[in-house]
Amino acid sequence: MTRMLVTGGAGFIGANFVHHTVQNHPDHEVVVLDALTYAGSRTSLAPVADRIRFVHGDITDAPLVDQLVAETDVVVHFAAESHVDNSLHDPEPFLRTNLFGTYTILEAVRRHGRRLHHISTDEVFGDLPIDSAEKFTETTAYDPSSPYSATKAGSDMLVRAWVRSYGVQATLSNCANNYGPYQHVEKFIPRQVTNVLLGQRPKLYGAGVNVREWTHVDDHNEAVHLILRSGRVGETYLIGSGDERSNRDLLGLILELLDQPAGAFDHVSDRPGHDLRYSNDSTKIRTELGWQPTYGDCRSGLAATIEWYRHNEWWWKPQKDATEARYQQLGR
Ligand code: NAD
Ligand code: DAU
Repeated sequence: MTRMLVTGGAGFIGANFVHHTVQNHPDHEVVVLDALTYAGSRTSLAPVADRIRFVHGDITDAPLVDQLVAETDVVVHFAAESHVDNSLHDPEPFLRTNLFGTYTILEAVRRHGRRLHHISTDEVFGDLPIDSAEKFTETTAYDPSSPYSATKAGSDMLVRAWVRSYGVQATLSNCANNYGPYQHVEKFIPRQVTNVLLGQRPKLYGAGVNVREWTHVDDHNEAVHLILRSGRVGETYLIGSGDERSNRDLLGLILELLDQPAGAFDHVSDRPGHDLRYSNDSTKIRTELGWQPTYGDCRSGLAATIEWYRHNEWWWKPQKDATEARYQQLGR
């Protein structure tokens, strides 16, 4: 039996990770530690509730983290403040959770000699020109743009320092944009899909030329399990499907899949400092660990995700009004 502590397991990627682990790794005992911020929901774990232990708590609570880490073999650290627009509006929770929270986890795994996998993002590298073939690699210099990505960059640096100076047994991964079920309606795909389902118009920032690399959450989580099984301690792995699309094109596909006219959306004010393009070179994880995305093209995964939102209004509707009220304050 492997005892696994999953931080942020009531959030989007963490909940999907817990589902995936319970279904595919019955030799794992899963404990979720989650503060249930606005982004976390116990209902996302309802289908596996009787197969896991849930602890409602904060990753900055050192005594609690110490006790849970002492009882585990491996920590998979997803917990974070994750939304760029929120970080521009109020950076403080991002510093607290992403930096101080990661520090708290690191000190506990150091004390107890436990294995850690740290989940990070391609946003730590800043952005790439829109019309180029350039890609981020594991050796690209960090150049974050937003308070969110700056704190994620800082958390990666802490992990690397704890590996080098204290011999902590940690790996890191930096994934591209994820999509799939249980993603909060503040994020691009769920926001647009749920707007259409409610008869409201999707909202495109600026001209919509910014490019993202869309990776299905199950492909991300499969990569995390491969790293846990065979990744080399101290190493970083970039994860990305290779499917890059401009926001305008992706919105076009969403509208097509929902049988809406191509122009049925509003342009809204742009995000300050809006990163132009992200693109990960995932050669290392593909060649070293044999990772392959099931969804190399997002069309079928996106269609399934849309169907999930269509059939699970009970899950997302309670968050929708408050989310749109926050966007209204931001003028987006
Ligand atoms: P999310 O916002 O959906 O979920 C975050 C979870 O962390 C929530 O359940 C929240 O309650 C919990 N949390 C927040 N602060 C906490 C604290 N102080 N203590 C305990 N729990 C706390 O985020 P997500 O999209 O699932 O992202 C998960 C991780 O993956 C993050 O580290 C993020 O940086 C990274 N990531 C996300 C993407 C993406 O496209 N969403 C891509 C690459 C990497
Ligand atoms: O690249 C990985 C990152 O992807 C993760 O680290 C972050 O946690 C995750 O939130 C995501 O960041 P983005 O800022 O790329 O995702 P978001 O869904 O907020 O926006 C995607 C793109 O769509 C971005 O260019 C902004 C734009 N956008 C977003 C919203 C919410 C719109 O045009 N309209 C919108 O309504």
